[in-house]
Amino acid sequence: MASSVSVLLLLICTAAVASAQLSPTFYDTSCPNALSTIKIAVTAAVIKENRMGASLLRLHFHDCFGCDASVLLADIPGSFTGEQGALPNAGSLRGFDVIANIKSQVEAICKQTVSCADILAVAARDSVVALGGPSWTVPLGRRDSTTASLSLANSDLPPPFFNLSNLISAFSNKGFTATEMVTLSGAHTIGDAQCKNFRDHIYNDTDINPAFATSLQANCPRPTGSGDTNLAPLDTSTPYTFDNAYYNNLLSQKGLLHSDQELFNGGSTDNTVRNFASSPAAFSSAFAAAMVKMGNLSPLTGSQGQIRLTCSKVN
Ligand SMILES: *[C@@H]1O[C@H](CO)[C@@H](O)[C@H](O)[C@H]1NC(C)=O
Ligand SMILES: *[C@@H]1O[C@H](CO)[C@@H](O)[C@H](O)[C@H]1NC(C)=O
Repeated sequence: MASSVSVLLLLICTAAVASAQLSPTFYDTSCPNALSTIKIAVTAAVIKENRMGASLLRLHFHDCFGCDASVLLADIPGSFTGEQGALPNAGSLRGFDVIANIKSQVEAICKQTVSCADILAVAARDSVVALGGPSWTVPLGRRDSTTASLSLANSDLPPPFFNLSNLISAFSNKGFTATEMVTLSGAHTIGDAQCKNFRDHIYNDTDINPAFATSLQANCPRPTGSGDTNLAPLDTSTPYTFDNAYYNNLLSQKGLLHSDQELFNGGSTDNTVRNFASSPAAFSSAFAAAMVKMGNLSPLTGSQGQIRLTCSKVN
């Protein structure tokens, strides 16, 4: 008993020391142009395709539910199973090519110095900024994993059919409050979802605006299997602007996913949704703080892991 307590304390202390090592100035001397290189590439990618902003933000989010770039590791048939085939990821994660392009530009200026995990964290911030959202300072110094966990990716990422209590506990398992869960859900102010993820909501749920449901049904037929991958914007009013419209949509029962509308459905988070709907500034500052907190979730630091040469495979 005593020894397991001290092992636990040791783990907690190690984690605290590890996250304390992240620093916004981490690359200031080792690669002073890293951040500007990433920003230029992200901005270009988002201008080329608006939807890419949401894809890059989602990649960081799915990676962080450890911030170690494990999500970027591609499967190698017969020898390595990564996270890209996990249920919440399969067929829907995008932006790997953009990250690969940024990584090769960064490698060209600073050989094996900037981690893929840091590139993901910075690209997420730059994507939000490119779409008109808030900026924040990204603590840096994460290292890349040499492994990935399909089972963790399957069990930790919240699916669209979750109810409010499921959502609160999934985020609580990662150390987030219910308010921070509502805040991070605001990332759905950009991006699209696939029909298979909102079909039940638009045909079966009652907490949805009827005209909104009908308008979505045209491009998302009822039978499972038809139109499964057809897309609709998560924020129906301003799909490519990072703003607080997502919360105003919830007030008028126009959340696309069941799990979105659960945040404003007579439960304990209604007031947070009302607050963010009425105050863009409150949402912006809460979102920036929650993103920094998410980016600090169990990163590898110091001599842990490695700096990958190519984001899609270990060295
Ligand atoms: C939420 O879903 C879980 C099953 O995952 C269920 O046990 C629980 O009763 C539901 N909570 C509410 C408030 O509906
Ligand atoms: C809606 O609910 C019915 C009855 O529970 C179920 O059979 C069906 O698969 C659900 N989804 C859709 C899209 O109709």
